[in-house]
Amino acid sequence: MQILVTGASSGFGTAISQTLVQQGHTVYGIARRKEKLQQLKQQLGENFHPIYADLTQFDASTLPKQIDVLINNAGLALGLEPADQANLADWHTMINTNITAVVALTHAVLPLMVKQGIGTIINLGSTAGRYAYTGANVYGASKAFISQFSDNLRTDLAGKNIRVTTLAPGLCSGTEFSNVRFKGDNERAKAVYDDVDAITPQDIADTISWLIHLPQHVNVNYLEVMPTCQNSAGLSVTKKHIG
Ligand SMILES: NC(=O)c1ccc[n+]([C@@H]2O[C@H](COP(=O)([O-])OP(=O)(O)OC[C@H]3O[C@@H](n4cnc5c(N)ncnc54)[C@H](OP(=O)(O)O)[C@@H]3O)[C@@H](O)[C@H]2O)c1
Repeated sequence: MQILVTGASSGFGTAISQTLVQQGHTVYGIARRKEKLQQLKQQLGENFHPIYADLTQFDASTLPKQIDVLINNAGLALGLEPADQANLADWHTMINTNITAVVALTHAVLPLMVKQGIGTIINLGSTAGRYAYTGANVYGASKAFISQFSDNLRTDLAGKNIRVTTLAPGLCSGTEFSNVRFKGDNERAKAVYDDVDAITPQDIADTISWLIHLPQHVNVNYLEVMPTCQNSAGLSVTKKHIG
């Protein structure tokens, strides 16, 4: 298969690219950091094709002419401040990356898939798109968009043999997600994963491999994957008088 993976320079995207190339697929990997993609190219060889690009300003004319699987994985959270203290520029960056770029790339790839008469799109959502937590604000909302966008794509593509899945992971270590969220405060990022068995990027890569190798008539609509140590913990109540 010819597979396009966004965010291949780190975390899930790197593990997905490694796993799928090792399985004999051809992977086109998009990210901004050239050195990281070059390292991956050295490791994976001729079946990995780096595409150096900022997805928020992407030129779709550089896309390969055949794409069997699109994995919209690139994305980020910025900050964990409550909404009234959050940085508006961070909100715009999350919207531009997690929503606008996903929409644009999907729009560019869909005509190819429809012409091919076959295709699979996997969109990386998050448990944050379903369960609100303090500080997730626009990040959580952007991932809720992903889930609803996927549902609506599936509806529009009915009868066209194109599968659309939202894969919504919970806490996952071994990526740069928290380093990015905390803007280089690596100690704070590390503390998020201290003393827990979080999901690993390989777990996500294996899940994606399973999804794409299911028979084409099987569409997993929404798949939520949390580590065993994580749960949704129920609703909370703020008392009028604290302490
Ligand atoms: N880790 C978790 O706990 C977790 C849980 C649920 C969902 N997710 C979601 O899973 C996806 C992958 O996350 P991750 O944990 O693997 O994070 P990560 O290690 O920070 O990787 C994010 C990737 O996205 C790329 N990217 C970001 N902005 C980009 C842009 N403007 N243009 C091109 N590429 C861009 C980055 O590449 P460059 O910086 O080189 O451009 C990087 O390769 C994200 O959508 C995230 O929201 C993660």
